[in-house]
Order: sequence, then C-alpha cells, then structure tokens
Amino acid sequence: MDLPFAESYKIKMVEPIRKSSREERETWIKNATYNLFKLRSDQVFIDLLTDSGTGAMSDRQWSEMMLGDESYAGASSYFKMKDAIQSVLGFDYFLPTHQGRAAENVLFSVLIKEGDIIPGNSHFDTTKGHIEYRKAIAADCTIDEAFDTTLSHPFKGNVDAVKLENILKSKGDKIPFIIVTITCNSSGGQPVSIENLKMVRRLADKYGKMVVFDSARFAENAYFIKLREKGYQDKTIREIVLEMFACADAMTMSAKKDAIVNMGGFIAMRSKELHAKASVYNIMFEGYITYGGMSGRDMNALAQGLFEGTEFDYLETRIKQVEYLGKRLMDFGIPVQQPIGGHAVFVDAKRFLPHLPKEEFQAQTLAVELYLEAGVRGVEIGALLADRDPVTRENRYPALELMRLAIPRRVYTNNHMDVVAVALKNIYDRRDSIRKGLKIVDEAPIMRHFTVSLDLA
Ligand code: F0G
Repeated sequence: MDLPFAESYKIKMVEPIRKSSREERETWIKNATYNLFKLRSDQVFIDLLTDSGTGAMSDRQWSEMMLGDESYAGASSYFKMKDAIQSVLGFDYFLPTHQGRAAENVLFSVLIKEGDIIPGNSHFDTTKGHIEYRKAIAADCTIDEAFDTTLSHPFKGNVDAVKLENILKSKGDKIPFIIVTITCNSSGGQPVSIENLKMVRRLADKYGKMVVFDSARFAENAYFIKLREKGYQDKTIREIVLEMFACADAMTMSAKKDAIVNMGGFIAMRSKELHAKASVYNIMFEGYITYGGMSGRDMNALAQGLFEGTEFDYLETRIKQVEYLGKRLMDFGIPVQQPIGGHAVFVDAKRFLPHLPKEEFQAQTLAVELYLEAGVRGVEIGALLADRDPVTRENRYPALELMRLAIPRRVYTNNHMDVVAVALKNIYDRRDSIRKGLKIVDEAPIMRHFTVSLDLA
C-alpha cells in the first residue's frame, strides 16, 4: 500500500483560537456592518481573509530574527538578503521596501508617466491602483479561458500573445513596460507557463520594452510549471525559478506570501541605472537603500524564507492543502474556479447564488453566510472590490463574482479545511432559502471594500 501524504514539518508552537456561537456571530457581523474586514480577529475561528503576512515562520526564520543587524546603513542583514535574492532569483541589484505595494510605488515612480499603458495579465488591485493613480492605464491581456470558471486549463494566468502584440503594435509609444503577475491572483491564483513568459520576453524584445514580474507567489508558479509543463518534471524548483526570472528585467515582490514573512518586500533589477533612479524614491518613501522600511531582523527572516519557500517539499505540502479544500468543495458540487489555484480556492458566487441579483452582491452575501455558519472569514473578489466607474459613478460588475478562501502558509490543518468545506456544503444545500443579499449604506470613493458599510437588502 502506498503511504499517504503528510506535511513536511511538525508543529513546535501553537496559538489558541476560539469557536463562537451563531448568536454571537450574528451580533458581531451586524455591528461590523456586514463587512468582514471590520471584524476583530478573535471573532473569527478560521481566518481565510488572506494568505498575505499570515504564514507561520519556521524555527530557522525565528533564529535568524535573533541575528538581525539593526545598523542604519550597510547592515549585514541587507547583505544576507542581497545574497538570497542573487542566488534564488538571479538579480544583482535590489531595494528593500516595507511590502509589495511600496515596491510598486517606488518602481512605478521611475517608470510610469501620465497617459502610459501597462499591459499584462490581470493586474492585482494595488498594482492597478498605482498605475491609475499616475493617470496611466492597466490593459488586461489575460487569455480568455481565465474568465470561464468551468474551463480547465493548466496555465490560466497566461498572457494572450495576440492581445499583447496588438497593443504593442498600436500603442507601443505609450508602453514603458509589460507586467506579468506570477501566479495571477486576480484570475484565481493561476500560474503562467515558462513558454508564455518566454513569449512575453520575445515580444518585449521585438518592441524594445522592459518586462517586470509582480512576483508575490513566484515559487507557487514554479511548482505548477514542474508539475504541468512538458520538460520540467526533472528540474528543481530553484532551476525553474531562475529560468522564469531570466525572462524579466525587474521584479516587485510582496515577501508576505512566498518568502513566508509577516511583513516585507523588495524590488530587484538587472540594471544599475534603474537601481540608482529607484534609490531616490526609495529613500523618499521607504528608508535608506540598505533597509528601505524593514528592520534587520525582518530582512534576515526574509532571506531565509526565500530559500525555504522554494523547497519542493514545502511547496508540495502547501499546494496540496489548497487542492484538498478545493477537491472537497468540488465533491459537494460547489462551483469553484478550476483548476484550483496556488494560494486560494475561489468559489463562483454567481453560480452558487444565481437567483440573487448582482446588485445585491452575491459574493459578499456568500462570505457573510459562511461567517455566520462557522466563523470562517473569506473575502469578496467581485462587484464591491471592483468599485464604481470613475467617470459614470455606476457600479462596475466584473466578469467573475468570486469569494476567495486564501490559505495561510503552514498555519491550519486539513481538519480546519474540513470545517470550511462542510460549512459551505450546508449553505449550498439551503442556497434557495437565501432570498436576500446586501445593499450599500456608506462607501468610500475608491477601495471601498475595506471600509464599506452594508445592510440586508
Ligand atoms: N501583487 C500581488 C499579486 C498581490 O497579491 C499583492 C497582495 C500585492 C502585489 C501587494 O502586496 O500586500 O505586500 O502590499 N495581495 C494580498 C492579498 C493583499 O490578499 O491577495 P502587499
């Protein structure tokens, strides 16, 4: 008999979490105006709001914390991070930043001006925010398959070559660089193939453009390449990572994901000139170039995390857990984005609650139901997140209306995943009885989902 699969670590420290009653949760969610961001974390039993900064560090990372060098300039921790970036990702130059969006802010301050167009696969919200804030346009060139949740495609994060070349041809003078998000969070944690990254590189060279990777979940992307792309089965994750990044001129990184730290990020690049230009903004926005918003101990933990996050056994444990939850949901007949992504399971709320009008925010309604059912916190990736059209002020209804269940790294067991799956099944069984969704009572002009107040429709 084959031995069953088991985690590639054991647990040395635990954090108690508390179950609550449905009655308690009804009061709490009402007081939070049906916005899960406004709950206190101790009102949540299983927190799948995000996989960002919520992972468990290893004993080795905690040891590195003790070795942190807190010197203002030239700290050994900076050089530790530099060595890790050079050996794992292959970039010679880098700037630490306090998280991913800060890296975007610094790099885009150098590269983007008003009227520019930045093509890529579906841009993450903060990436898009930093582009639009500079009065530039984020052009989504993701393959069409990504927008049909029932379709199985091994690399739903891929960039469509025709869409990309069309825009390079027609608007080339307005394009400073192409950005590829690996894995593509907005389309469901879906990977991009090496073949596709090479295609982007070829087109970029043909039209003389830079390529930037938004790399938050680059290691999960490499894992999918090893499993799914022809010719990569016998390569190590590190070899694949280097081959991926060989297609890029620069990268932004939210280290809160695949470097398994609670806070941190960086920009890395090949060009000394770009490093010099970005250094000016880094000093203005983040901190001196050898710490850029991070403490020495955090840079040490990040460096260690880059090595651990690119180990096959760790990645296999990680992605198998996400897949486990996805499979349980699929066995119950619950509609999810297929195939299951790297960091999260995305439930298709349009197909889960088809009888609710889109004006009543199906995915948010589902997320509130899941919280009430079992104290599980997911997040809406749908019409609330999409905000209003900046010109018409009408609500925007995106192609996909999803509830994301993002799994923190090395934090929960599959028993927790079972609770989530059964809670959703219970809701699915009584879905027809959910007759009313939610309506907006009060909202901010942009990024409204964080602070919006809702009420029952
Ligand atoms: N790029 C991607 C693909 C992301 O998923 C995120 C963050 C960022 C950039 C920004 O990084 O948070 O460190 O400033 N994603 C989190 C999430 C917030 O929940 O998916 P950050």
